[in-house]
Amino acid sequence: MNNIISIRGAVTAQNTEDGIRNAAVRLIDKIYFKNGLTDGDVVNIIVTVTDDITAFSPARAIRESGHSVPLVSAVEPNTEGGIKHCIRVMVTATSQNKPYHVYLGGARALRLDLTATYAIALDGPSGAGKSTVAKLVAKALKITYLDTGALYRALGLVCLKNGVDVNDGGAVEKCIKDVDVNIVYRDGVQSVIADGEDVSSEIRTPEVSMAASAVSAIPYVRQKLLGLQRGIAEKSSVILDGRDIGTVVLPQAEFKFFLTATAEERARRRFDELTAKGQVTTYEDVYNDVVMRDLNDSTRAIAPLKRAFDALEINSDNMSAEEVADYIYSTVNGDLL
Ligand code: DC
Repeated sequence: MNNIISIRGAVTAQNTEDGIRNAAVRLIDKIYFKNGLTDGDVVNIIVTVTDDITAFSPARAIRESGHSVPLVSAVEPNTEGGIKHCIRVMVTATSQNKPYHVYLGGARALRLDLTATYAIALDGPSGAGKSTVAKLVAKALKITYLDTGALYRALGLVCLKNGVDVNDGGAVEKCIKDVDVNIVYRDGVQSVIADGEDVSSEIRTPEVSMAASAVSAIPYVRQKLLGLQRGIAEKSSVILDGRDIGTVVLPQAEFKFFLTATAEERARRRFDELTAKGQVTTYEDVYNDVVMRDLNDSTRAIAPLKRAFDALEINSDNMSAEEVADYIYSTVNGDLL
């Protein structure tokens, strides 16, 4: 059933016609997008500005951008210590959902209770460099990083240790049903704990990679890990890397990226990484693993590896991890500013 909801939003803007037009339209577009609205759902929009926004009317900017809904603007009372150059809106709409409030740029500070956290979804095939990039981005933005693949690896490892066939859904379910998987952060570094044991290093072998890929196709496994991932994302601003973050785990993530590279390039990187760690392997074996995992991960029936429709795709064939991280950092930071 549809209810009337009030959605709050605010953005800071430069006091120029272009600055005000851009900020106001960006704010309204984001509110519409996050709340799944069209003009037909909107009852009216009230816009207020601080008294230093004088170069243009944001309500007019919204109307001229094509929104034909009742609009009114007014000047806010000038309060001591209040935020400057700010455009605030209240959008009244009919919706089945709870309101998703949007505070952008300097205006985020206004309502940290509503928008204190944001999420970045970084999906892509194995070996695209997601974890290296995610760690760099997390450090630069001072947010939490969650390597979701590590969770699937931990469950794959438990199955291997118990001699369970990782392709047998029933047997896997029985084996992992009571296993307590958890993440702890020590000095910002993630450790994966399975039944009290830190398995962070043990999960990084090619055998565990394949086992993780196999168990990740089992609905029970995905369901078991869903709440854990969402719980971590709820607590603070996060970047999660995985296969289905933008599509299933956090479809409402503020930022979504899909990182790709050719299978050859990804195999080369993985091979270099493994040999640097002293593991004995050949490029051909690593390449075959990459191709096999791509196939497993993208053809499974549940939550397959897929770019979310609203994710930005980045091909990293000719980019270093630092370059990709810089791109993500500036995209996210540019939007928050
Ligand atoms: O990213 P990784 O190589 O550590 O992931 C190990 C396996 O886990 C991968 O083959 C697919 C699966 N996985 C998944 O299905 N969904 C995720 N969000 C993360 C990993």
